[in-house]
Amino acid sequence: MEKFVIHGGKPLHGTVQISGAKNAAVALVAATILCDEPCVLENVPEISDITKCMKILREMGAEVRLLDKNTIYFDTKGIEKPEVPYELARTMRASCYFLGTLLGRFHEAFVPMPGGCDLGDRPIDQHLKAFKALGASDEIVNGANHVTADELVGNQIYFDFVTVGATMNAIFAAVKAKGLTIIENAAKEPHIVDLANFLNSMGADIRGAGTDVIKIRGVDYLKGVTYATIPDQIEAGTYMVAAAATKGDVVIANVIPKHLESITAKLRKVGVNVEESDESVHVWVDGPLMKTSIKTMPHPGFPTDMQPQFSTLLTLAEGTSIVTDDIFDNRFRYVAELRRMGADISVDGKVAVIQGVGKLKGAPVVATDLRAGAAMVIAGLAAEGTTEIDNIFYIERGYEKIDEKLRGLGADIQRVYKPDANEMELSG
Ligand code: EPU
Repeated sequence: MEKFVIHGGKPLHGTVQISGAKNAAVALVAATILCDEPCVLENVPEISDITKCMKILREMGAEVRLLDKNTIYFDTKGIEKPEVPYELARTMRASCYFLGTLLGRFHEAFVPMPGGCDLGDRPIDQHLKAFKALGASDEIVNGANHVTADELVGNQIYFDFVTVGATMNAIFAAVKAKGLTIIENAAKEPHIVDLANFLNSMGADIRGAGTDVIKIRGVDYLKGVTYATIPDQIEAGTYMVAAAATKGDVVIANVIPKHLESITAKLRKVGVNVEESDESVHVWVDGPLMKTSIKTMPHPGFPTDMQPQFSTLLTLAEGTSIVTDDIFDNRFRYVAELRRMGADISVDGKVAVIQGVGKLKGAPVVATDLRAGAAMVIAGLAAEGTTEIDNIFYIERGYEKIDEKLRGLGADIQRVYKPDANEMELSG
């Protein structure tokens, strides 16, 4: 099993290039199913979630070719059966996007219950509610969601709460439905806007993405285009926090600073300098880090996907910080790992109380999910001594070449192969 070994305590310096956004790219790749001609996606991150999406499309009969490591050609007309293979679907959350895209094109979809990071229960009732409003019915068959419709007809969809995934799926199902669909209480994340822009460039008629009311007038045909994915706000935020935690001086390039506003505001609150330019942000620290309070919210609020990384930074700040994250049931599983490194954090339900300890100490730790893994990397970079991180496959679901990028900033991080306990038993 591969691990990261980090010798910490070195401030990060230099410039890092941010990749395309994972949570946009997984939706754009799924959306190629709706396109009636071949299309090309640029600035796609080289991460395992994308590799899995490409495999799903290929297994269903699509032609998917890498033109270079971040540019992918898709011709999905060869898909005949609207069915996602079980083994591929169950390992990633974004597989549920194939429900909406297959339903939109074939009026039928058969997709095993989605997997992904274990952040607690992740139901899809709002996705199904949207499909139902457009005329589809659903049932569970052999552990898979089977959704069918004689025809899809535009309608009003009101989400009970803000959900990124269900907003994406409602757009997928509505883009070729008959007439007008109005989605109310829609998610406003940059990746929702990116999906709407991609589909509109193909000829779709989607208005209001980025606000909480999205109007979609169905069209019959979507033409082939070449489209570039937006930069990853969470990858950018992760490097911003890594720069701050190591008291470094880093330019984070190829970003849209507007997408980073909530992260920038919180960093400034804790005493970190952030200077914005057109397509980059410069982050540096020249004084003490201070406590703050955070409550995660849907966009434009502070993103839950930055909570573990920011909480790690707050362990290094002076005073007591309070972090509330109630988007998912269980996004504090990494806290036990941080405690091994000397952090003083207590968790009560969805609230963490972080007593700043000034310094962390290297230790063997485990990535408990994708963003928790990023938090462990930040902790390891800031800590004195050596940190060994297990389960790095979680990190590779969403961060392109994180070890290479960090080495480019002067970090001492190596990818090593170490047999795990079971392998040692077998070989011993
Ligand atoms: N929810 C329901 N029913 C639904 C849909 C959602 O109860 O039908 C609940 C969820 O269980 C959760 C909350 O509503 O408690 C919000 O879920 P949402 O649908 O917004 O999240 P998601 O689509 O499952 C995406 C990202 C996550 C990110 C969240 C929130 C992708 C592939 N995943 O998940 O990204 O945390 O939005 O912004 O886009 C990550 O990148 O590390 C990650 C977990």
